Amino acid sequence: MTRQDKLPAALQGLRIPMIAAPLFIISVPELVVAQCKAGIVGSFPALNAREDEGDPPLLDAWLTQISEELDRHNQANPDRPAAPFAVNQIVHRSNGRLERDLEICVRHKVPIWITSLGARVEVNEAAHSCGGVVLHDIINNTFARKAIDKGADGLVAVAAGAGGHAGQQSPFALIREIREWFDGPVALSGAIATGEALLAARALGADFGYVGSPFIATDEANAVQGYKDMIVDSGAEDIVYSSLFTGVWGNYLRGSVEAVGMDPDNLPTADAASMNFSSGSSKPKAWKTIWGSGQGVGAVTSIGPAAAIVDRIAREYAEAGARLVGDFSGKL
Ligand SMILES: Cc1cc2nc3c(=O)[nH]c(=O)nc-3n(C[C@H](O)[C@H](O)[C@H](O)COP(=O)(O)O)c2cc1C
Repeated sequence: MTRQDKLPAALQGLRIPMIAAPLFIISVPELVVAQCKAGIVGSFPALNAREDEGDPPLLDAWLTQISEELDRHNQANPDRPAAPFAVNQIVHRSNGRLERDLEICVRHKVPIWITSLGARVEVNEAAHSCGGVVLHDIINNTFARKAIDKGADGLVAVAAGAGGHAGQQSPFALIREIREWFDGPVALSGAIATGEALLAARALGADFGYVGSPFIATDEANAVQGYKDMIVDSGAEDIVYSSLFTGVWGNYLRGSVEAVGMDPDNLPTADAASMNFSSGSSKPKAWKTIWGSGQGVGAVTSIGPAAAIVDRIAREYAEAGARLVGDFSGKL
């Protein structure tokens, strides 16, 4: 039995071991469907379905749309079915919609749940009540243990260099500490933008690479042209780590900080109490004005369909694997 066979069914049979990370504002059904059709888990934050007063609520409509489009694809392409999708729940006290969103996701039997900014037993119970698998987002081993204690099925290890709210630990250290005690599903995130990096994540002991920033520069992403262009034009040196914009440490594009007249090299720090997912603040708005990105964007050289990113990473992954096998043959 391989590791793959031991994973929950929803996480098996992907084209490559990759999960597209949920991106605030940017991940919309068009992007999610493109990711799933390309053979990797597509995802979006529930909060991206922003008009929450509608009947049915927009989240309801999005889930129906995604399921119907993937069903149609699967009927037309039984030989290469779409991968399942994931919904991200921001489990933070400022998210006043959480309970309602959980109820909608249970009703739609969402197959994969990604939880961030708080581990809660009730959220895991809701997911499990409809057969969902929960992956909880963590930045260190302490949070990883808490997440599993509270009933998550697996982990997203957010290492240094990741886009948005990111940790500071080396992926080498983080995965090793988690694998000392946890044998379940683990996705690794942080500047994974190539097939070589995906293979490295697997070599470290992660089951999946978790890839966000490259999908900002895609046709399907809900991002303004200037943001997509800046992803293409930026490299690791253009990423700034700051807590100012949301109260939680994260990585942002230097050019977007400069564009609001601030000095990216001299940003003040903020306290976590200022984080708010329901309303804006007087600071430049993270995500809308201050653009999130991880350090892996040097590998993104053009804007195109999301499927092209998956194709490229799949090709690089196979080539890098073959090269390593070649290098190792006879020397083991
Ligand atoms: C613009 C942007 C928005 C993000 N929004 C969310 C979010 O709403 N929820 C979440 O769990 N993670 C969010 N993330 C983090 C990603 O899910 C993921 O951890 C990260 O993008 C992985 O690193 P990478 O960008 O280097 O691939 C965001 C990241 C970026 C760049």
